[in-house]
Amino acid sequence: MTNLATKRETFLKDYQPSAFVIEKFDVEFDLSPEKTLVTSHLLVHRLDKTSQHLFLDGKQLKLISIVLEEKVPKFSQDDDGLHIFNVPEVFSLKIVTEINPAANTELTGLYISNNIFCTQCEAEYFRKITFFLDRPDVMTFYQVKIIADKQAYPVLLSNGDLVEEGDLPDGKHFAVWSDPFKKPCYLFALVAGDLAKITDYFVTMSDRRVTLNIFSEKQNIERCGFAMLSLKKSMRWDEENYGREYDLNIFNIVAVNDFIFGAMENKSLNIFNAKYILANPETATDQDYADVDTVVAHEYFHNWSGNRVTCRDWFQLSLKEGFTVFREQSYDEDNNSAVVHRIRKVQDLRNGQFAEDAGPMAHPVQPKSYVAIDNFYTRTIYNKGGEVVRMLKTILGADVFRQATDRYFEKFDGQAVTTNDFVDVMEEVSKRDLSQFRLWYSQAGTPVVNATGAYDSLNKIYTLTMEQIVPPTADMQNKQPMLIPIVTSLLRKIRGDTAVALVEPEKTVLLESNLQSFIFDNIEADVIPSLNRHFSAPIKLNFSYTEDELLFLFKYDTDGFNRCDAGQRLASKIILEGMTDEHYSHAIGEILRQPFSDLSMQTELLQLPSEKYLHESVEMINVDKISTARWQLFLSNAMQHEAAWLKLYESLVSNENAYSPEEMGRRRLQAICLHHLVALNKKPYIDLAVKQFKAASNMTDSIAALSALSHTDTLERVEALAQFQDRWQHEPLVMNKWFMIQAQSRLPDTLENVQRLMQQPFFHLKNPNNVYALIGGFCSSNMLNFHHVSGEGYHFSAECVLTLDVINPMVSARIVECLLAWQRFAAPRKDLMQKALTRIISAPNLSKNVYEPVSKALDMEEHHVRS
Ligand code: BES
Ligand code: ZN
Repeated sequence: MTNLATKRETFLKDYQPSAFVIEKFDVEFDLSPEKTLVTSHLLVHRLDKTSQHLFLDGKQLKLISIVLEEKVPKFSQDDDGLHIFNVPEVFSLKIVTEINPAANTELTGLYISNNIFCTQCEAEYFRKITFFLDRPDVMTFYQVKIIADKQAYPVLLSNGDLVEEGDLPDGKHFAVWSDPFKKPCYLFALVAGDLAKITDYFVTMSDRRVTLNIFSEKQNIERCGFAMLSLKKSMRWDEENYGREYDLNIFNIVAVNDFIFGAMENKSLNIFNAKYILANPETATDQDYADVDTVVAHEYFHNWSGNRVTCRDWFQLSLKEGFTVFREQSYDEDNNSAVVHRIRKVQDLRNGQFAEDAGPMAHPVQPKSYVAIDNFYTRTIYNKGGEVVRMLKTILGADVFRQATDRYFEKFDGQAVTTNDFVDVMEEVSKRDLSQFRLWYSQAGTPVVNATGAYDSLNKIYTLTMEQIVPPTADMQNKQPMLIPIVTSLLRKIRGDTAVALVEPEKTVLLESNLQSFIFDNIEADVIPSLNRHFSAPIKLNFSYTEDELLFLFKYDTDGFNRCDAGQRLASKIILEGMTDEHYSHAIGEILRQPFSDLSMQTELLQLPSEKYLHESVEMINVDKISTARWQLFLSNAMQHEAAWLKLYESLVSNENAYSPEEMGRRRLQAICLHHLVALNKKPYIDLAVKQFKAASNMTDSIAALSALSHTDTLERVEALAQFQDRWQHEPLVMNKWFMIQAQSRLPDTLENVQRLMQQPFFHLKNPNNVYALIGGFCSSNMLNFHHVSGEGYHFSAECVLTLDVINPMVSARIVECLLAWQRFAAPRKDLMQKALTRIISAPNLSKNVYEPVSKALDMEEHHVRS
């Protein structure tokens, strides 16, 4: 088959319900690394009177035998699966297949990670395990028997309850697991290995006692305790905030080293990338702790938003992912500084999703077509999808939103549904017309809202006028105006510049048309509007604030998010438009000296906009100019307040290693002080970093010091890196931080260093975490060096993409993202990036995972074979 013919597009409009249902599924695994036998028993029911042709999905499977009701049916096998002809209305099928988990480097289907058998079936990889109707709307009951060597694989796990276990001849043993809930096959999981576990209990709101286990490799089991606390906290949170109770008597989590993503929500058997389970102060940073908490919560929340109510087809992915991201973010806001959490999530959205929405892969929250579904686990589906749910809550109000989610879970429990069904329930319960709101699901692109304000002193009226533009994207030129909830309040200076009055308390303005005015009356004097507070809508909002107004908002806005945002706008003006930094710098000085109760918030206010954020604020990206101007402002902030940074730094020194919002805030603030000081490149500050590095009793302080040093061309940097390596060489998760720090260095020889590190024995191309840290760290986080004008960074990324594509297409597709926005870079970079993309697409046997984004980026529409 040619390269192109396999790159078919799947369309939402072509959805058809399955003509067959699977009433029951019994499967037996006889595990062995090179040769695993899978014996599957299906009870099939044909719904459609006309179709006697059953097609079962199957990939890379060796068919051993097939029997339909005692007889060999008429069948044929091709690259995509098995055709069975002349099937009756109700029948049993017994299919035996053989697979080779040891040879599986794609880390999908059944594979082996450090001698642990594990699975990853979402989205369409159950078909690499056995022939099946591999689609989420085909749900059935599973009974799974696992047979394996007892010594090598003492722990045997699958979904649901353990119903039987015992010994077998030849040193083997078996376990039978039965899941009482119907599920789609993407939620199937199996684990077998020599694992240690920790156990705890959770008593649910209706007094059921649930056993909780976390499994990991033996040497890591001491580091699983924090994840267990997060699991219990998440279980309670979902009961209290959504009325959702856990539904089985057992919940298992397994941590493995080789995993493409963060984690997977398989029913009652979540499988995690070890990075998101293991945490102790010596080896994990505060960010790692926060990530563990988030991912554990996210996967747990899927038990309702995803598993009990699942997706009809993969175009509905945001139904479970967007909603679960929103739930996970609400949980995080409840457990941390809420405003800082929001600020950081919006940064992610602006840096990542806005870029996606402006690039060749732009797609709506509910896409209309895809080539590789793997490529649609995007920031749009996840983060914009989460924002869409957040907007629904803002529009409906917390109480009605909760009634609506209750109704959603009740109405669709056990079903596979659509994003439309979700909005239908919101409509039904709120009795609001949400038809215009649905455009958030079908129109791609980040809406731009241009706002202006006018004060009429005679009538004491303030008029806010807003215009919205939904930009064209590759999939759609002309768009309709969206329904945009813009939380607004009006502020005024009182007594000079020392305090703020909330002239108009927060209210949600609904922008519905292309152009619309909102009138506020009884306004005694001119005001400054604070718009899109808390980032109530995922839009680009323009208001031509004067420098004075931005400074005012930066100092006094009563919404922490907008306060911080005003600082980012000011800094952007200095960096991009060359505005002088005198007043901004003065404001930074004040923030440094003011007492703050929330030190994380103080840190955010001191932070400059990231290079990525700045890239997103301009049409044509001038990498050097942005990078240099930003660095200049950073240095200028450091120089002008040298004494204040030092004083603040010294006031924060402590030996406290606890992970709590307060301590985390202290460490964050201390780190930003150190970064500024070290940037001054003076011996005493380099020594200060070395001192912190040596004295650190937690990974956060150690990494902060190392990363500050990593940009300096000093012997101290070299020594610290060597010491770190010496100490952590045998801790893969820790070494990823070491890779990442070096990959992100501003030093000119960074690419050479990255290439050298790739040759180290503790770097493994087959391990996704290693790839994301070192190659991803360089290609997507080191703007300065990746985009070096020589084009060597682009060349390097293309090499990596091609090498990785053979090992693991999904990992490769993540790396290729760094080249996709080529058209937005000024020459010569643009041409060099295009050249790298052309080189990739000319490679023979390119995976569809990489082919799809690259072909879209090069605008080679004609290469898609429409079928
Ligand atoms: N269902 C996904 C895992 C997944 C991702 C399966 C991509 C197939 C393809 C899981 O619930 C998930 O979303 N995990 C995230 C972490 C989460 C905190 C956003 C991940 O793995 O990055
Ligand atoms: Zn998820």
